[in-house]
Amino acid sequence: MEMTNEEIHEINRRRTFAIISHPDAGKTTLTEKFLLYGGVINQAGSVKGKATSKHAVSDWMEIEKERGISVTSSVLQFNYRGFCINILDTPGHQDFSEDTYRTLMAADSAVMVIDASKGVEAQTRKLFKVCVMRRIPIFTFINKLDRDALDTFTLLDDIEKELGIATCPINWPLGSGKNFKGIFDRKRNEVITYSETMKGTKEAKTEIIPLSEKDKLTDKIARDIYENLLNEIELLDGAGVDFDLEDVKAGILSPVFFGSALQNFGIGEFLKYFLEMSTTPLPRQADCGLINPEQADFSAFVFKIQANMNKAHRDRIAFMRICSGKYEAGMEVRHIQGGRNIRLMQPQQMMASERKTLTQCYAGDIIGVFDPGIFAIGDTLSVPDKELRYEGIPTFAPEHFARVRQIDTMKRKQFVKGISQIAQEGSIQIFQEPSGGMEEIIVGVVGILQFDVLKHRLEKEYNVEIKLENLPYEHIRWVVKSETAADRLTGTSDMKKVVDLKGNLLLLFINAWSIRMTLERNEGLELSEFGT
Ligand code: G4P
Repeated sequence: MEMTNEEIHEINRRRTFAIISHPDAGKTTLTEKFLLYGGVINQAGSVKGKATSKHAVSDWMEIEKERGISVTSSVLQFNYRGFCINILDTPGHQDFSEDTYRTLMAADSAVMVIDASKGVEAQTRKLFKVCVMRRIPIFTFINKLDRDALDTFTLLDDIEKELGIATCPINWPLGSGKNFKGIFDRKRNEVITYSETMKGTKEAKTEIIPLSEKDKLTDKIARDIYENLLNEIELLDGAGVDFDLEDVKAGILSPVFFGSALQNFGIGEFLKYFLEMSTTPLPRQADCGLINPEQADFSAFVFKIQANMNKAHRDRIAFMRICSGKYEAGMEVRHIQGGRNIRLMQPQQMMASERKTLTQCYAGDIIGVFDPGIFAIGDTLSVPDKELRYEGIPTFAPEHFARVRQIDTMKRKQFVKGISQIAQEGSIQIFQEPSGGMEEIIVGVVGILQFDVLKHRLEKEYNVEIKLENLPYEHIRWVVKSETAADRLTGTSDMKKVVDLKGNLLLLFINAWSIRMTLERNEGLELSEFGT
């Protein structure tokens, strides 16, 4: 079965990207403005803002509100000028790089938001590394030009040096803070002037003046800013990198845009070029080769599982990226890892606090599906008679470990259910003694905040109190190959053997020296930092 031209058009008009930033650089505000421009909301301030006291789209969990950080990822879809845009929000906190990595697996490009007064910050650096691992195009939006900004060349230098990626400014700011006058579009050779936007509640009214109209420009933006712009353009044209779309696609050149998300300035200009330059849904690697999105048979993979997003519905949602074909309501699909044919329950897209039930989705789209506890991260779905497996999403080695003690032992069943479900979502990993069942449980996390999240969620969602006892291990290795049986593996005295939920053997170490010793003592032993 072939796809119709209309269906192919539906796929090709899709753009699926993740938005990344250091907390406070303006990711939420920018997302909100995309929605404003897409006509999804008609007044800014409804996604997040103290004024309306409504919470951000991704502020689902109580802990997020308490700590003021975004723990979960959200997905938004809207139409804009003939394109269908899917935005994946990524958690900005340093503890969630693994979650971010998974979200990026579902995206075809990333938009990196940078605060113009700060440049590259710690978390941008970390998230950026994750983007590089995925080798996807990265677009940079330098935000908050309505505040005093660092020198533009310094900002670009900072990105190039800190992140090791070349930059190509698509537009250029005229001043900043009180002197912010607008941006210069390098391709069209025209200045787009900036004017107040009633605190960003409405789309910015702009005036476009060609660079050649000197009198009009000096009238509007002041002579010194105009002259400075000419100097900067000259410098840029002489020293800057030429734009090359192939380099953008390869993730080695980042197109850079300037603006103010708060004041709605530079958003339309960003979207226009971003949509032109970013890619249609990309093919994905499966065991039988690259799967093209235009292939008629439906296929998808699960990249995120999230429980209890909405208190009113105690439920679990599996987020999946459609990689090929289209999904229609009621369709029967094959859950490869589960080995069964199923019907996806209540496929939804998340839009602010509302959920929209979907009838048709195409390759490139992300859908949230009600999960009765059958899905795991990395699972593949296909049409019933065409089995394939998408390459797995690696499990990062946890860096912090704790033994979990249950306070009320009468609630054993609740405890096992809760901790197993949370582990399936992928934010914690649980390990047991090789011999034992769930009697002794060790939890491993990539970021220590996850210990708090676990404790909090077990209490709130499963009514189980636990105590966590920190363990000194810092390294974990999956045993890939061993010539010796598990019980005869000899390591250092502080080494601990555990198994994961899939029954794989792992070794816990206090330091890197113990890993080396263990490898030396056991000939033919192969260890890995990533689980599958
Ligand atoms: P995040 O999602 O990346 O963490 O950032 P968020 O959008 O929440 O923005 C962080 C703060 O920066 C917010 O202020 C927001 O209003 C402000 N901001 C975002 N974009 C701009 C911009 O272009 N210019 C200026 N001047 N400020 C910007 P807040 O006071 O912390 O929160 P709120 O009370 O405004 O919600």
